[in-house]
Amino acid sequence: MYFRCMTIIALYNLKGGVGKTAAAINLAYLAAADGYKTLIWDLDPQGSSSFYLNVKSVNKNETKKLFAEELHLQDAIQHSVFENLWIIPADISARNIDTFLSDVKHSKKKLKSVISNLKGYDILILDCPPGISLLHENIFNAADWILMPNIPTTLSINSFETVASYFKNNDLDKGKLKCFFSMVDHRKNLHHEVIQQFYKDKLFFKNYIPYLSDVEKMGIYQQPLFEYANSSYAAQCYRDLWNEAKKICL
Ligand SMILES: Nc1ncnc2c1ncn2[C@@H]1O[C@H](COP(=O)(O)OP(=O)(O)O)[C@@H](O)[C@H]1O
Ligand SMILES: [Mg+2]
Repeated sequence: MYFRCMTIIALYNLKGGVGKTAAAINLAYLAAADGYKTLIWDLDPQGSSSFYLNVKSVNKNETKKLFAEELHLQDAIQHSVFENLWIIPADISARNIDTFLSDVKHSKKKLKSVISNLKGYDILILDCPPGISLLHENIFNAADWILMPNIPTTLSINSFETVASYFKNNDLDKGKLKCFFSMVDHRKNLHHEVIQQFYKDKLFFKNYIPYLSDVEKMGIYQQPLFEYANSSYAAQCYRDLWNEAKKICL
């Protein structure tokens, strides 16, 4: 029987507010539309992915129970209203995962072991909280690919460099790390200069996501971008990014 292995893609950055969740939702939507059985795991207690897909957890302390293996992943998965797209929503217990992990055995590989029981999905997208903690080390170990949106500004690039050296110093596979520029403002010279400088680095995708109010409106419509602005420039940018990403990641 034909069996396709699940690809795990984390949308991650040390920094918050860089477009991780917007990308997680829109890329997951495109993956699902391409026919891949796609699951998003919202690991951020802010629960923005869960909000965009209008889904709430049904079990008390669900995220913590999943990490403690008191609850099977399969029992936390909910179908979104879109074909081929499922989600494990976040809940507030996600904020305590680091404390929990610091007390368990094999604490850097716990997420990998929890996910290893999952069957029947082609792509798992992890929508990560910002930071660089034990939870993130779990994410780095579990994911096949770590996609980092970067705003082309000095501070954002500093945080990219912190992550790159963290990978190097902790013997993590830097080959998993892929970046794309996010919230690019065409009017700003600094953005152009930073982009040109970093395109020499093969870690960066050619396609990027500009700063566009159509993306921001996801919060108003509480939907993936394509549901209310399918023919917009913003939608095209995510499609181009997805087409580039899938050639590398799938
Ligand atoms: N390309 C973009 N253009 C304009 N606003 C954006 C863009 N991407 C994200 N946003 C907005 O910026 C805020 C942070 O984005 P989000 O995806 O939640 O970031 P993160 O998950 O990294 O914290 C949200 O209000 C979102 O609507
Ligand atoms: Mg987010």
